[in-house]
Amino acid sequence: MLNGKNGSHELPTPPAAGALPTNRYAHVVGWGMSVPSRVMTNDDLARIVDTSDEWITSRTGIRERHIAGPKDSTSTLATQAGRAALELADIDPNDVDLVIVATCTPDHLFPATACLVQDALGCGRAGAFDVSAACSGFIYGLTLGTQMIRTGAMRTVLVIGAETLSRFINWKDRATCVLFGDGAGAFVLQARETPGGLLTSVLGADGSGGDSLIVPAGGCKLPASFETIRDNQHTLQMDGKAVYRFATRVMTESVREVTAKAGVPLDQVQLIVPHQANRRIIESSARTLGLSEERFVVNLDRFGNTSAASIPIAVCEAVRDGRLRPDDNVVLVAFGAGLTWGSALLQWDATPPAEPTGLARFRRQLSYSFAGLRSTARRGWRRVEGLLFGSQSPEGGQQPPKRGKTDEPHKPKEPVA
Ligand code: ACO
Repeated sequence: MLNGKNGSHELPTPPAAGALPTNRYAHVVGWGMSVPSRVMTNDDLARIVDTSDEWITSRTGIRERHIAGPKDSTSTLATQAGRAALELADIDPNDVDLVIVATCTPDHLFPATACLVQDALGCGRAGAFDVSAACSGFIYGLTLGTQMIRTGAMRTVLVIGAETLSRFINWKDRATCVLFGDGAGAFVLQARETPGGLLTSVLGADGSGGDSLIVPAGGCKLPASFETIRDNQHTLQMDGKAVYRFATRVMTESVREVTAKAGVPLDQVQLIVPHQANRRIIESSARTLGLSEERFVVNLDRFGNTSAASIPIAVCEAVRDGRLRPDDNVVLVAFGAGLTWGSALLQWDATPPAEPTGLARFRRQLSYSFAGLRSTARRGWRRVEGLLFGSQSPEGGQQPPKRGKTDEPHKPKEPVA
C-alpha cells in the first residue's frame, strides 16, 4: 500500500525476485499529438455518399475529421507525435529504451510500425514493437510500458497510439465512412521513485465478437485476391448496433472496475478521457455512472474516431485547455475491435518541464538529423555488405549449404552439453 493524495492505492505486489526494485512508478513526463492538415467536414462527406451533416451530427456528434494526405502514413504521424512528446519531456531519443506503437492500421503487415518510428526518431538503443488491440490499443500499450518500468526492466518508454483509418475505409459505405479520422498521440513514460503516474489498469477481451468489427481480408486467412478486392474485403466492416451495445456496457463496467482496483472512489476522479467513438456512447456512460458530462473530455466533433490515437489526442487537448492539472486523478477508458476494452487510472502529476535550454534543443535537433543520416547510411551499408560478402557472414563464417544442394543427408545437431 502507498499513500496517494486521495487515500491509499493498492498496487500490484512486486515479483518475489529480490533483485527487482519495489519503488518504481511509471510517470507521464511528456505528451504530444499530430493530425494530418487536411480536414474533411460532414458537408464534404455528403458530396461523396448519401448522408447529411444533420444525420452525422445528431447520431454521432462528429462534425469533421482529419484525413491523411498522400505523404502521411501511420508511421509518419506516430513519429511526429512521438517527437513532440520527447521535446516536451526534454528527453534525448537515445535515452528511450522501448517504443510501443498501438495501431490497427500499420504501414505494413511487417515490419512493425514501431520499428519505422524508432528509426525515424533515432531511438538507437530502443526495442520496438506494435500492439494490436484496435481502439483499446493505447491502454494496452500504456499497461505494457508501465510494467516494463515497474519491474525495473526499463527506464524510459515511448507509447504511441497512431492510425490512418482513412486507408481502410469503404468510402461508399455511409454507415462507416462518416465515423473515422486519422491522427496520432504519444506519451513518454519514465521511472520515478515518487508514487504516482499510472496506478493501475484493467484489460479485457471477448473474441466471440471479433466479426462485429473487422477488416476481413489481407491476413493469412484471406490473402489479397481478385475476389477479396472485388468484394471490398480489405476495408472495415462493422455491425454498428452490436458495437454500440457492447461499448455502452464495457465503458461503464471498466471505469468502475479500474477505480475499485486502484482504491480511488469515483468522486475523487477529476476527469474521464473516454475513447472518442460516438457522443451518445459517452453520454450514456455518464448517465449510468451518475456523473455530469463536464467530467468527460469530448473532442470527437473535430477528430472523429481516431481509434488508438483518440485517448492520447484527447489528453493532449485537456492539458492544453487546463482541464487536466497536476495531481488530478484521470481515468482513461477505451473499447474497440477484438472485441477489446481497457481502462487505466492515472495520477496526472506531470507539469510541463521548464523550457529546454538552447543547447539541449540544438543537441536534439542534431540527433533527429543524425537519425535520418544514420538510417540512410545503414541501408547503404547493407547493400555494400551484400555485394562484398554475398551469403557469407561479414565475420568470415560461411553460411551452411542450403539443403537440397548437397548430397549429404541433413543430420540434426547434437545438443550442446
Ligand atoms: N447518413 C444517413 N443515413 C445513414 C447513415 C449516414 N451516414 N448511416 C446509416 N444511415 C441510415 C441507415 O441506413 C438506416 O436507415 P434505414 O432505417 O432506412 O435502414 C438509419 O440511418 C439508421 O441506421 P442505424 O445503423 O440504425 O443508426 P444508428 O442510430 O445505430 O447509428 C452508428 C449508427 C452511428 C454507426 C452507431 O450504431 C454507432 O455509433 N455504433 C458504434 C460504432 C463504433 O463506436 N465503432 C467504433 C468502435 S472502435 C474501433 O475499434 C474501430
